[in-house]
Amino acid sequence: MVSHVVPVEPFDLIVFGATGDLAQRKLIPALYHRLADGQMPDTARVIGVARSGEGTEAFRALASAALDAHITPAHLTGDLRRRFLSCLEFVALDVTGDTGWDALRQLLDTQENRVRAFYMSVAPRFFSPIAHGIRKAGLGGPDARIVVEKPLGHDLASARALNQHLGECFSEHQIYRIDHYLGKETVQNLMALRFANTLFEPLWNAQYIDHVQITVAENVGIEGRGPYYDTIGAMRDMVQNHLLQLLCLTAMEPPAQFEPDAVRDEKLKVLKALEPLAHKSDAVRGQYRASGKSRSYREDAENPDSHTESFVALRLGVSNWRWAGVPFYLRTGKRLRNRVSEIVIQFRNVPHSIFSPEGGAPHSNVLAIRLQPDEGITLSVTIKDPGPGGMRLTDTQLDMSFSEGLKRPVDRMPDAYERLVMDVIRGDQTLFMRGDEVEAAWKWTDMVISGWNPQEAPHPYDAGSSGPEDALMLMHRDGRRWREIAI
Ligand code: NDP
Ligand code: BG6
Repeated sequence: MVSHVVPVEPFDLIVFGATGDLAQRKLIPALYHRLADGQMPDTARVIGVARSGEGTEAFRALASAALDAHITPAHLTGDLRRRFLSCLEFVALDVTGDTGWDALRQLLDTQENRVRAFYMSVAPRFFSPIAHGIRKAGLGGPDARIVVEKPLGHDLASARALNQHLGECFSEHQIYRIDHYLGKETVQNLMALRFANTLFEPLWNAQYIDHVQITVAENVGIEGRGPYYDTIGAMRDMVQNHLLQLLCLTAMEPPAQFEPDAVRDEKLKVLKALEPLAHKSDAVRGQYRASGKSRSYREDAENPDSHTESFVALRLGVSNWRWAGVPFYLRTGKRLRNRVSEIVIQFRNVPHSIFSPEGGAPHSNVLAIRLQPDEGITLSVTIKDPGPGGMRLTDTQLDMSFSEGLKRPVDRMPDAYERLVMDVIRGDQTLFMRGDEVEAAWKWTDMVISGWNPQEAPHPYDAGSSGPEDALMLMHRDGRRWREIAI
């Protein structure tokens, strides 16, 4: 999986918030793997920035601990660790003030003519001060890149304001808005499956597809993010970004090229074609309650009266020629039975069965694209049950799991950040959201949320279950059912 790497040019990656959780848990390990696989050159520099810190040696020690915590021992050798840590530098800087920028400039100036990428691994209120600080200190030329992480606003108005602030200092082609779901291996595989094969695309429409299900189920709760999450909820935290992005890639028309604006133009068309929810009951909000050893959402959020949803299920339509009449069912939630993310394409039944009813009816085909765990793609097909028992029909799974399909063992699946950070360095924006996409996603999200009564408590569901009963009803009333969130 990780053997075909094209090395990138030497670069300077400046990570604002380098001592924080995201940087230590995701970015540092991702960069280590890129160095280990020969993609990141030893001459690249990762310059950590934060207010507090004892300098480069202390930062290297912190990063070394992050490698111990997040890299499996089989992938962590002493030589690689040494090589990786020697790429790290640290500059103490409060992004809201004026001091420290000179030191950063001096360090950057020791290497000229290389890609500079500024990664904002800090709270969103710092995005604008950092962008202006970079400009004021003259650190970012026309080729510099900035990387921003969600939350990219909490509604359309704030997303527009953020786009405007970033746009005051950087051009759109310099702004990399991360949705880490786009960096997941199987998500990219969805595009290969659809657009590098003739098999599926002719069937990829309302004539052959009965409905689409997109599930992102988590078994974790809100994990110490209580006060923040309680102001956000599942709709803003997960649907506005990750689930809508998955929907876009599933529903979009083939772009003319696999090229940033061509792909993003097609995704934008899908977002603009999202229908308003037809009925109030097309959205089900849920909140987990205590069960077994698990605490309730309200205990986790430390808000005994919270009406914030930790689960949401939706039934929506995409109003265009290809998808007219095909429901898309989306659901996501915390403290569910298991961690499962998948896109399920349920094809229609055959128009007529030629087989006798005693042998069983043909089942409709199901294409399941699993993002996690066990990344891979399965296609269920109806076959004859082997043996001399007459024409009896049964289901079988064609399993296109990576290790099977590639005929070589998959050593490990690269984390989404590995791909995304290298794409920033390469200057490839294909897997990053454009400003207008983010705004279109917020416009639809705001419309859905505005239909909710904030005084109404979400439907309770047991921690460790598959979500509230009403979410099951959302599909049952259409004569359909969710795929099980299997243990
Ligand atoms: P943390 O609170 O763990 O880290 C924040 C970092 O910012 C620290 O290094 C902190 O160091 C630094 N910082 C804070 N204030 C300043 C300042 N004025 N000047 C310079 N540096 C400053 O946050 P996370 O790492 O969890 O999150 C960072 C961003 O990424 C947030 O926007 C978050 O929403 C987003 N995100 C996080 C994810 C995660 O998994 N953690 C996932 C997706 C998005 P110091 O205090 O020493 O200055
Ligand atoms: C983040 C959300 O964007 O994605 C979290 O803010 C969520 O609430 C996380 O837990 C899920 O990401 P993954 O990659 O673990 O599925």
